[in-house]
Amino acid sequence: APAVPSLWGIPLKYLSLVTLAVQNSSLTIIMHYSRVSTPPERTYSAATAVLMNEILKAIISLVIAFYGVDTSGMSSEVGQAPHTSPSRLALRMFGYRLTKLRKDVLSRDCWKLSIPAILYVIQNNLQYVAASNLEVATFQVSYQMKILTTAAFSVLLLRKKLSSTQWLSLVCLAVGVGIVQIQGSTGSSHSVVESAHAMNSLTGFSAVTAACFTSGLAGVYFEMVLKNSQSDLWVRSLQLSLFSLLPALAPVIFNQRAQMADNGGNLFSGLFYNFGAWAWATVLTQVLGGLITALVIKYADNIMKGFATSLSIVISFLASVALFDFRLSVTFLLGSTVVLIATWLYNHQPARATSARSIGAMVS
Ligand code: C5P
Repeated sequence: APAVPSLWGIPLKYLSLVTLAVQNSSLTIIMHYSRVSTPPERTYSAATAVLMNEILKAIISLVIAFYGVDTSGMSSEVGQAPHTSPSRLALRMFGYRLTKLRKDVLSRDCWKLSIPAILYVIQNNLQYVAASNLEVATFQVSYQMKILTTAAFSVLLLRKKLSSTQWLSLVCLAVGVGIVQIQGSTGSSHSVVESAHAMNSLTGFSAVTAACFTSGLAGVYFEMVLKNSQSDLWVRSLQLSLFSLLPALAPVIFNQRAQMADNGGNLFSGLFYNFGAWAWATVLTQVLGGLITALVIKYADNIMKGFATSLSIVISFLASVALFDFRLSVTFLLGSTVVLIATWLYNHQPARATSARSIGAMVS
């Protein structure tokens, strides 16, 4: 059997799932804080943040893909020229990697990544709208609806078969999210941070719902492209980020034009307006999340990703209670418990008994 890829002896599959859970809770808290801790006129541009996220991911994927290029084809060349100096050899190696990488990135099927790229850019922008208008915990539980959309798109696109228990768990999930929403819309929740501007639940929930659709479709689409070809994960990630650049740039230019009409100035002067430490922390956490998501989709799948995300709810709860004196209401606890049970039920299917058990062992 092929060796299981691992880091420090821990299989990448589990390492990536646990890291994703921790990253997810950190991102929700950092993003919410970065948005609501300042009045709207002093917040940074979400469009700039999304663009920075894609640029940084592209650079990191490029570096990893570059060093991941298989150079075994070069050995015959080296054998023919035994007296080549080390610097010349390094230069030749550099050129070899570059040529091979360019060919891989510009492969004939690279256009396929344009679909998840556009969807993810929309989703990443919507996430800022949701984080600005919902409490941390409410946002996170409602965002669990992406398990539902992921399941639907897995059935449609990957022809995955779902058991009756899984369909039941999806209904449970919808009910759980509904309970949390009732709690959120009555305004009885306690804010985890001092909010400097009014939050609008309806706007927040609409953004989350739309983001759940793009998340499910984009995730399943990326899994389909990745698993139906031999291409390297980092080449695929690089293609994804490159295709994201244009749609991520569009809202930035649009916003700048509107601002220029108001106060004059050049096109990019306001790009990093109010872009402070919290904005950068949000971007960096999101970059990390994107890279781990890619790993999870490769070494596990989108369904397991849902499991890791629901684990992150528990982490966020504990963090909110410890850090922000967050008090949980009975409705919130009830809704969240239903969501967690549904997630467990969804993953607990006979065909996947082994993997569900091992994840369960990892969680406990
Ligand atoms: O919530 P969800 O798991 O759908 O979020 C996926 C996030 O990971 C998005 O921000 C997306 O931009 C990012 N991603 C990525 N590379 C991938 C897959 C997802 O950067 N290969």
